[in-house]
Amino acid sequence: MVILGIDTSCDDTGIGVVRSGEVLSSVVASQTALHEPYGGVLPEAASREHLRVIRTVKRQALLEAGVEPHEVELVAATRGPGLVGALLVGLNFGKALAFALDVPFLGINHLEGHIASSVVGGTLEPPFLALIASGGHTSLFRVAAWGSYEELGRTRDDAAGEAFDKVARQLGLPYPGGAALSQLAADGDAGALQLPRPLLGQAGYDFSFSGLKTAVATLLDRQPDAAPADVAAAFQEVVVDALQRTVRRAVEATSIRQVSVAGGVAANDRLREVMLAEPYGVHFPPLSLSADNGAMIALAADHLLRSGSRSLTEEQFGLDALPYFPLAGDGSGASGGRQLPGRVHVGSEAGV
Ligand code: KG4
Ligand code: ZN
Repeated sequence: MVILGIDTSCDDTGIGVVRSGEVLSSVVASQTALHEPYGGVLPEAASREHLRVIRTVKRQALLEAGVEPHEVELVAATRGPGLVGALLVGLNFGKALAFALDVPFLGINHLEGHIASSVVGGTLEPPFLALIASGGHTSLFRVAAWGSYEELGRTRDDAAGEAFDKVARQLGLPYPGGAALSQLAADGDAGALQLPRPLLGQAGYDFSFSGLKTAVATLLDRQPDAAPADVAAAFQEVVVDALQRTVRRAVEATSIRQVSVAGGVAANDRLREVMLAEPYGVHFPPLSLSADNGAMIALAADHLLRSGSRSLTEEQFGLDALPYFPLAGDGSGASGGRQLPGRVHVGSEAGV
């Protein structure tokens, strides 16, 4: 089946084409330069930019895939979680495209897309554990089957990528600083400076990174002469250690010995090195698919259809965007998923 997948959940316009589980193309128009002066994503500007480029990105994705529009058999788009204005652009573009091509449309959870990205080309089948570490999310899931998810833990405050970005900023690196920080860390000594290890010794599978960011700020105040490369290396080591330690405990508790790691932070060299040395199976997406992209949304649709957890008989043209869309239960959003205290459930079946 030829599936065109769309992701406009945040600041990247991603469209990819997948045939029988194989990625034929993945085109991403990055908005980094647009948001850089603000040090973060400006939601309204993101929506406008998605609108401006989405048709070009679609044409390019089809061209690179060598697929004619009439050969597309399904359109899938991210329904949430994400910025509502940004989501609406991709979701409505996807519906309109499916309608024009007279093919079915599927709404997909962005996190399901990240999980699917780490399974591409490999032999990984559920059950497995899935760690997602990106700029917006840091969660650990048990994937019992495609379309059956349990969130074992999540960050209580900042996402891992967000912490990378904030510490990078403290070190004077440009936004988003994750990749630059990790390059800087390569020349540093992680043992030269002491930073606290978040949630060390605590039960459960939650993460916490905001205290670490504050600890780096304090350290920079107290030791202004500390080598930036050492600060970067020490910080990175603590984040990687927290992710590795928590995943290992989940592997031991569940006896599920296959783990996928996805999201922008999955591009981190040190995380790859540490996780791939673990005594269980670890699967990373190809570097080109670790950050947000549309191909992963098409891949998720492909897995969901093959496994029979979703079908093309459901009418999906009336779907709304779900800015808050926890991945839980069957992933369809029908149950609303686990509600966390203090979080507003903005999306609902009735609309946003
Ligand atoms: O998955 P993604 O593209 O977007 C979200 O859904 O958030 O992830 C982007 C995040 C950013 O915070 C970025 O700094 C981080 O991934 N990132 C990295 C690296 N490359 C990107 N963090 C650590 N090391 C990297 N090499
Ligand atoms: Zn993402």
